[in-house]
Amino acid sequence: MAFLAQRLSLIKPSPTIAVTQKARDMKAAGRDVIGLGAGEPDFDTPENVKEAAIAAIRRGDTKYTAVDGTPALKAAISGKFKRENGLDYEADQITVGSGGKQVIYNALLATVEPGDEVIVPAPYWVSYPDIALLCGGKPVFVPCSQNNLFRLRPEDLEAAITPKTKWLILNSPSNPTGAVYSAAELKALAEVLLKHPQVWVLTDDMYEHVLYDDREFATMAQVEPRLYERTLTVNGVSKAYCMTGWRIGYGGGPSPLIKAMAKLQSQSTTNPSSISQAAAVEALNGPQHFIAEHNKVFRERRDLVVSMLNQAPGLACSTPEGAFYVYPSCAGAIGKKTPQGKTIANDGDFVAYLLEAEGVAAVQGAAFGQSPFFRISYATSTEALREACMRIKRACAALV
Ligand SMILES: Cc1ncc(COP(=O)(O)O)c(C=O)c1O
Repeated sequence: MAFLAQRLSLIKPSPTIAVTQKARDMKAAGRDVIGLGAGEPDFDTPENVKEAAIAAIRRGDTKYTAVDGTPALKAAISGKFKRENGLDYEADQITVGSGGKQVIYNALLATVEPGDEVIVPAPYWVSYPDIALLCGGKPVFVPCSQNNLFRLRPEDLEAAITPKTKWLILNSPSNPTGAVYSAAELKALAEVLLKHPQVWVLTDDMYEHVLYDDREFATMAQVEPRLYERTLTVNGVSKAYCMTGWRIGYGGGPSPLIKAMAKLQSQSTTNPSSISQAAAVEALNGPQHFIAEHNKVFRERRDLVVSMLNQAPGLACSTPEGAFYVYPSCAGAIGKKTPQGKTIANDGDFVAYLLEAEGVAAVQGAAFGQSPFFRISYATSTEALREACMRIKRACAALV
């Protein structure tokens, strides 16, 4: 009898975490490595947020809290949904977990029966398929073309829906492509969903605030109120507030679902850190000016990276409208040979070559369900990005 459970063979360790760790290990071994794998802002958590956490410790907010969030944090989240999204969620419609990842995990574990289908537009965030698989579900991938800026088309959604479809997962702005859905585009998808009342929508709005070029954010429950009763709106403080390590994510949705998710959390991790919750209250209620300041820097970096990568032979990089990733095609490098004589057969070989030859750590498109591409996170210093893009250009030029 095997010791490890069979379900573990269904999933793989997060490829983005794996690349980040590999880059860390190589650096520790003395190699000159630029890590572009991690999806976290290089900016520090704002001071007022840190102070709120310190005050919480001093006040003695160091005990268990309500499982799915303190009343103060739920009130702050409710206020945020109303203010920024025009959405009404009361305390019993809000859940707080240790990161958006846990919220998504709870939602699927609470609802997915063996064989239920979860539609995942590709390219996708690496964790959606594996969470669905762990919960006994079947991820159904719908390829989204680069020509349509990696956005799901209504006709492709329609074709993917079956009587077994339980969820559609939407993510805008997208990790890994930076694609953003307009209200009109969401509305067109909603028209399809309205015909299929068994399908719920999990909208992952984690990058809501990381938007460029005057794009306006839209989310499904706001755009189509008739879907409100079957939408889970997921968000968090990791990205916009530079709080990846604090582990606070949240969701708004129908109270029976929220209650089921709390039941699960009560038997797994209990409440998220009381101190992080106090910090998240300050993040949501406190000054927001730094978000625009960060976006200005991100936009400059985006423009730098897109323009430098488009000068690299074999690469084609479209300009993303949100998040802090680019997802260039490396189709022009496939089939070529490295100076060491190794053929680049796929995007996995391409990123391995970048790491070996130039010490640049990126993530292969295969990890996100669409090849031949690779993902670069530009949430790192401008100097490091400039150097990394120069190295990528050099590596591409050396291919024959
Ligand atoms: C699209 C997307 N959703 C959710 C998450 C999870 O964020 P966290 O668990 O830090 O809240 C991430 C993090 O990388 C992400 O990129």
